[in-house]
Amino acid sequence: MTGASILRAATLGGIGVRHAASLTLAELRLRLRLRLPLQGGAAPDPEAHDRLRGKALRRACEEAGPVFIKLAQIISSRRDLLPPALLAEFERLQDQVPPFDSQLVPGILESEFGKGASELFLDFEMQPVASASIAQVHRATLHDGREVAVKIIRPGVAEAVERDVALMQQMVRVAMRFLGPHSAEGFVGTFCEMLRKQVDLTLEAKNNLRFRDLHAEDRDVMRVPELVPELSSRRVMTMEFIHGMKPTDPRMPAGRQKRMAELGLIVVYKMILKGLIHADMHPGNIIIDDDDRYCFLDLGIVDELSWELRKQFFESWFATFGDGEGAPFARMMLQFSEEHQVGDFDAFAAEVSEMLRANVADRALRELAFGGTMVTMEALQRKHGIVASPPWVSLALMLVTIEGLARHLDPDLSIAKSIEPHLLGFLRQLYLMNPALEKRRAARQVRQQVVEN
Ligand SMILES: Nc1ncnc2c1ncn2[C@@H]1O[C@H](COP(=O)(O)OP(=O)(O)O)[C@@H](O)[C@H]1O
Ligand SMILES: [Mg+2]
Repeated sequence: MTGASILRAATLGGIGVRHAASLTLAELRLRLRLRLPLQGGAAPDPEAHDRLRGKALRRACEEAGPVFIKLAQIISSRRDLLPPALLAEFERLQDQVPPFDSQLVPGILESEFGKGASELFLDFEMQPVASASIAQVHRATLHDGREVAVKIIRPGVAEAVERDVALMQQMVRVAMRFLGPHSAEGFVGTFCEMLRKQVDLTLEAKNNLRFRDLHAEDRDVMRVPELVPELSSRRVMTMEFIHGMKPTDPRMPAGRQKRMAELGLIVVYKMILKGLIHADMHPGNIIIDDDDRYCFLDLGIVDELSWELRKQFFESWFATFGDGEGAPFARMMLQFSEEHQVGDFDAFAAEVSEMLRANVADRALRELAFGGTMVTMEALQRKHGIVASPPWVSLALMLVTIEGLARHLDPDLSIAKSIEPHLLGFLRQLYLMNPALEKRRAARQVRQQVVEN
């Protein structure tokens, strides 16, 4: 490890120790207030205890910087795993991280566009509406009256990310020397790559345009904010301001929650169908707009799924629901791996079949659903020495997140039951997108033109 990394590791250790110490003090204060003995005896109010732990963790993440905030955001999407009081603290890291000094904003706008805020905008609110790991967002009005969101990268964030990413990768390399190949390496690699990509907003703008194009026909259920290209650059992205609420907003009425639960699943499967995967899909990056549409924000990191992979994904689930046969699923897992092969395919496929059948038989699949099953398969992959590829990790994460969210919105929802009726339609649509067919179609068009001319 390099000297800079060791120094950084020591700083992080210091942050951890300091917040752990203040947590201990806070717990002692809580015990005093509740008139409990300072040691042993009854545990103090567990909810208050979770709140204290959550607060200490949140503050430590804020202080440790963007990489740690990002990790906490990923954890925060697993609502099923965290006690509510702890979750509430983690959720604040999705869009309520302390903002940077807004006095820096005019200088950033000036350096990106050569003009000040008052020239660029009719009105610009200096107080940000939200701020997260990488950026903060200001509301503004364009000269033509359009209301926009101006996303500005935190100053110094690229350097902070680079420093911690280097440290993490070095630590993983050391760990791998002891553990051997493991999907964790893929996960950390993907995570680092995604952080690096997020600090350049031109990538997000490009993904925004691609998403808009791919999902033009789905506009009534899902969309992205419309980009204002002339006011977008590496460090600033200007886009339509979306009015609506976070999907986890407790103010959402129950009936609407139920509707949005099922729709959330469907829009995500539509995303898989088109092959552009949102690789950072926590609830802070989703707004449900006033017309009940899913608006996806923060498309800095996406993964692409080839047509072949998408076909295998839908076909293997189709087969799983049909006859519980695991071979297509096993083949899909190989397609999504680094090496595309396994020593003994038959043994691997038999174990996959067994796991799927056991889950279907005791109906656990209904509970585990797609994302959960893919994550459960991790153990089997490891056993057979298969290292998952980055798109598998992103896909599994996205599915786990949306399925968790859907179940939060509607606890009675059966994920498999909601998706099963759509599978055939998805497959039909996918076959029509076959690149070979498209090539033939294009060739036919060219021939037609030649004949006509
Ligand atoms: N177009 C928009 N309209 C309304 N609010 C937005 C818009 N874009 C972002 N936000 C708000 O700003 C927050 C941070 O933006 P985001 O793009 O997620 O930045 P980060 O990369 O730092 O997470 C979002 O969680 C959301 O609350
Ligand atoms: Mg975000």
